[in-house]
Amino acid sequence: MSISYPLTSTNPYQGNSKELKRWLDKMIDWCQPDEVRLCDGSDAEYQELCDKLVEKGTFTRLNPSKWPNSFACFSDPSDVARVEDRTYICSLRASDAGPTNNWMEPKAMKKILEPLVKGAMAGRTMYVIPFCMGPLGSPFSRYGVQVSDSEYVVVNMKIMTRMGDQALEGLEKADEFVKCLHTVGAPLPQGQADTPWPCNPDTKYIVHYPEDRSIVSYGSGYGGNALLGKKCFALRIASSMGRAEHWLAEHMLIMGVEAPGVEKTYVAAAFPSACGKTNFAMMIPPDGLEGWKITTAGDDIAWIHRGNDGRLYAINPEAGYFGVAPGTNAKTNPNAIASIAKNTIFTNVGLTPDGDLWWEGLSDAPPTNLIDWRKQPWDPQSGKPCAHPNARFTAPAYQNPAIDEQWDNPAGVPIGAFIFGGRRSTVTPLVYQSFNWNFGVYLAATMGSEMTAAAFGEMGKVRRDPFAMLPFLGYHLGDYFNHWLDFGRDLPNAPRIFGVNWFRKDENGKFSWPGFGQNTRVLKWVVQRIQGKASAVESPIGWMPRYEDIDWAGLEKFDHAAFDQIMTVDREQWKKEIMAHEELFSTAYDKLPKEFMFMRELLLSALWRSPEKWGLAEE
Ligand code: GTP
Ligand code: SPV
Ligand code: MN
Repeated sequence: MSISYPLTSTNPYQGNSKELKRWLDKMIDWCQPDEVRLCDGSDAEYQELCDKLVEKGTFTRLNPSKWPNSFACFSDPSDVARVEDRTYICSLRASDAGPTNNWMEPKAMKKILEPLVKGAMAGRTMYVIPFCMGPLGSPFSRYGVQVSDSEYVVVNMKIMTRMGDQALEGLEKADEFVKCLHTVGAPLPQGQADTPWPCNPDTKYIVHYPEDRSIVSYGSGYGGNALLGKKCFALRIASSMGRAEHWLAEHMLIMGVEAPGVEKTYVAAAFPSACGKTNFAMMIPPDGLEGWKITTAGDDIAWIHRGNDGRLYAINPEAGYFGVAPGTNAKTNPNAIASIAKNTIFTNVGLTPDGDLWWEGLSDAPPTNLIDWRKQPWDPQSGKPCAHPNARFTAPAYQNPAIDEQWDNPAGVPIGAFIFGGRRSTVTPLVYQSFNWNFGVYLAATMGSEMTAAAFGEMGKVRRDPFAMLPFLGYHLGDYFNHWLDFGRDLPNAPRIFGVNWFRKDENGKFSWPGFGQNTRVLKWVVQRIQGKASAVESPIGWMPRYEDIDWAGLEKFDHAAFDQIMTVDREQWKKEIMAHEELFSTAYDKLPKEFMFMRELLLSALWRSPEKWGLAEE
């Protein structure tokens, strides 16, 4: 589309990237904002925009004696989570998007989006947000520019990314950036009044053009739909970059593990949305494991490159945490509580009249007179939650007392092991180690998990979520599996791969495993395994710890029987599980790695020979 000069507003960018200047002209011409503002990323700008959000009624300033410089806000009830069914990968060919993504021809999608975007920012300010994903100056970092008509997005991007002047400077040098257009899709023609949470309740599109390396997000102001550096760029577009450039963009936390006499080890772990990454990355070892220390390098996304020494190095492309609030408290995650103590934005949590907060699980007894996330007085007897189950906090990473000293290192940190885990009330055991890299890739590829509130969908339904990347992969699933297999072939001593499940339940529907800090016991076994210091036995699905292989100091009440309960591999359940792998494979059939069929057969034959309940002492 050609640009019709003069523009409705002046383009504030006068730097030397012709590409950026031209693209911004086009965006201004399309969106027709009343004003355009180039964000510098300063604290003053952040404060000014927070004040503006308070004035507009979007933000409530929290009680400064309880939550200094922090704000609460409530989103529109139609806009509370990622919209996977409205998310598209518009590669030139359908076969590059694959069976797990919505696809439309770029031209056809542009035809839909152009009229929507046309004039979409009327009555609003367009903010131009230059940002860097990854440490400034890292060869692994990538730049982006997001234009957005949401102040909420600007202030969240300030926390979540390296944003503003410094990013712009780097971008001009690199002269390459991902183009991110975001609009809430709620123009205000002729001075029409704004609403506290503008969005388009009827029409939403989250669209990626991997070949163009551009993103268009229309109609939502929430989380991963709107903070385009996160899932859209750092996972969907970056995974497609990584495929072309031989690196990996993954839905993984990165943690450091230290203990006396143990070489410091970094572990990367992929769990699906709302399945415990932030918690695991920040956990404090329990009583009995004194001397063990865990540090956080990242809590959601890892970009992983092969170093010249043949090891894998990971950076965290983000600079903040967009974490799940419900369930977070001083016992389950003290480091998260410390991270959100100030300078934090809370979305869709409960609010008291004196500017305090509450969410399910923050404390046993809720304070009185709470306003729920729908802005209604909350009745604890109503059976409805006070905070939305996908309520989130946005907090700067540097506020985490357990931040890893290398978290901002441009070279990244060396990865010793990968852990994959879903949310499964049955079937999958607490922990097991895959036989080798290929079986590990198979384990990750076939991972199942129960759906959570992080995305619209049927809560609790088990779905295959390969590598915890199902909603975040920017290309064909089969190509992705092959990319992972290929990646390992290239490594002299590939990281070992483990599976975990913190969420198995007993016959009364209660979690069988205490979880949270106690997960350190499992991590200790993992780290000792890769250092050749822990033993295991071979099960039909991989290597498993025996009761005596795990350090139980301080948790002796979790006895042998309880351990057996949570480690059992039930033959008939597992046969069904493996049949479900088949269902996934059939969707990716044309590009499925040949290895997978053989590994599936090997697993089946091992199960076939196994006792009915492997791991339980036979009676
Ligand atoms: P995303 O930000 O959506 O990618 O999620 P995440 O993987 O970082 O999940 P997070 O750590 O925020 O945890 C989500 C929910 O699971 C929270 O309510 C936690 O309290 C809960 N949770 C985390 N770890 C455990 C655990 O070990 N056991 C149990 N039972 N619950 C856990
Ligand atoms: C997830 O859903 O995995 C998140 C939150 O980390 S969001 O950024 O909204 O995608
Ligand atoms: Mn996530």
